[in-house]
Amino acid sequence: MPMTTTDIRCADATLAVVLAAGEGTRMKSSLPKVMHPVAGRPMVGHVLDAVAGAGIGRVAVVIGPGMERLARWVAPHPTAVQSERRGTAHAVLAARAEIAAGADDLLVVFGDTPLVSPGTIAGLLAERRRGAAVAVLGFRPADPSPYGRFVLDAAGGLERIVEARDATEAERRIGLCNAGLMAIDGARALDLLDRVGCDNAKGEYYLTDLVAVARGLGLPCRFAEAPEAELMGVNTRLDLARAEAAMQERLRRRAMAEGATLIAPETVFLAADTRLGRDVTVHPHVVFGPGVTVADGAEIRSFSHLEQATVGAGALVGPFARLRPGAELGEGAHVGNFVEIKAATLGAGAKANHLAYIGDASVGAGANIGAGTITCNYDGFAKYRTDIGAGAFIGSNTALVAPVTVGAGAIVGAGSVVTEPVPDDAIAIARARQTTRTGQAPAYRALRRARREGGKA
Ligand code: UD1
Ligand code: MG
Repeated sequence: MPMTTTDIRCADATLAVVLAAGEGTRMKSSLPKVMHPVAGRPMVGHVLDAVAGAGIGRVAVVIGPGMERLARWVAPHPTAVQSERRGTAHAVLAARAEIAAGADDLLVVFGDTPLVSPGTIAGLLAERRRGAAVAVLGFRPADPSPYGRFVLDAAGGLERIVEARDATEAERRIGLCNAGLMAIDGARALDLLDRVGCDNAKGEYYLTDLVAVARGLGLPCRFAEAPEAELMGVNTRLDLARAEAAMQERLRRRAMAEGATLIAPETVFLAADTRLGRDVTVHPHVVFGPGVTVADGAEIRSFSHLEQATVGAGALVGPFARLRPGAELGEGAHVGNFVEIKAATLGAGAKANHLAYIGDASVGAGANIGAGTITCNYDGFAKYRTDIGAGAFIGSNTALVAPVTVGAGAIVGAGSVVTEPVPDDAIAIARARQTTRTGQAPAYRALRRARREGGKA
C-alpha cells in the first residue's frame, strides 16, 4: 500500500515500541534472537528500517537484561530494559516513560518479524485511525499452528485474540492469525495496558489481550491483513532460514528491477544493503556480504565472495575472487581467479588476473600485478602498506615486503622479493642469479644412474 503525505504527517505523532527482550529460547543461541542476521543485517535492523520507512521517527526498543550489544546496535534509539520476561504486554510497559510522554498512536512491533514493509505499517496506522482504540495486523499463514488466532464477532469485527496454547479445538481451526503488530490509541494506551492480566496457559501478560480489554470497555477494535511473506515470525532456526529465503527472493527481484542481470538468481546471495548498478551481470553462485556497491556495467563471475567492497564501472571480478573489507576497484579494473583483495584500492584499468594477495595497498591506474604476487603486509606484529604507482608492472611470483613502494611505470622482475623502494620507471630484479652449465645434463644423468646401480650391488 503506497503511503500518502497525510500518513507520513500523522506518523510523526506515532511512537513505535519494538519488542526485543525475548531470549529466543527456541533458537538455542547465546545471541539475542533479534540480533540473528537475515541478509547480513540483524532482524531488528530490518524492523527499524520498516518503521523508519513508514515515517516514524520516535522509537523505543525494549531489550532484556545483559543485552548491551543490542542496545549499542539500535542506538541512537533509546532502549528500555524489561528485567523479567513476563509477556508481550509487560514488555511494552517497560517503555512506560516513553509512552507517558504522549503520542497519537502507539505502534507495537516485534523484533522477530523482519520482513514487514513500511506500507503495511502505514496501512495498520490508517486502520487504527478509522475510529478504533486498537488495530491489529492479521495474516493467513500456510501453517497457523504457532500463532494467536483472531476471534471475530457476528459483524466481522475483532472481538479477541486467543493464543495457540490457550485455544480450543474450534479456535485452532481459525486461519486468520495475529502477526503481532498493533496500533493503539496513544491517549488510552497506558490505561488499556495496565488492565491486562496474566490468567492464561503461560501465566504471562499477553499483548493480545488488549483487544478483549478494549472491547470490554465498549471500544471498537479493527484489523488489517497483509501477506504471509511479510509477517512470518522467527522463533526457530528453521524460521530463520525461511525468512532468509524470503528476503533473498525480495532482494534478487529488487536488484533485477534496478537493471542488474542475475543469470541464476536463486544461486546469488545478497545483503540487505547490496547495491548493483545498471547492466551489472552477476554469474551463478556469487555471495555478497554487507556493504557492497557495484557500479554500472561491472561483471561478477561465478564463485566470488564480496564484502564491504566497491567495484567500479565496467570492472571484472572473478571467477573465484575474494573482495574483503576495504577493497575498492576502479573503473575497468580486473580481479581474476584466486585473487584476494583487502583494504586496497586498484586504480582504473589495473589488473590482478590470477593468484594474488593484495592487502593494505594502493595500486595505481593501469598497473599489472602478475600471478602469484603477494603483498607481505604483516610481520607477525603489525600491518604495513604497499604502494604501487600507475602503470607499474609487477612480475609473477613477486613478494612485496611492506612497507614498500614501487614507483609509477616501474618494472619488477618475476620472482623478486622486494624490500627496498623502487623509483618511478626503474627496473628492479631481486632474486638469485641463474647459473647455466652448457652441455652438462647428460654427464649428470650418467652420474646419478651409476650411483643408483652402485647402491643396489
Ligand atoms: C506472539 C503473539 C502471537 C502472534 C505471534 C506473531 C503474544 C502473546 N503472542 O507470539 O499472538 O501470533 O507473536 O509472531 O503477543 N518479547 C519481549 N518480552 C517478553 C516476551 C516477548 O520483549 O516478555 C518480545 C520477543 O523478543 C519478540 C516478541 O516480543 O520479539 C514476540 O515474542 P515471542 O515470544 O516471539 O511471541 P510468539 O510466541 O511468537
Ligand atoms: Mg515470535
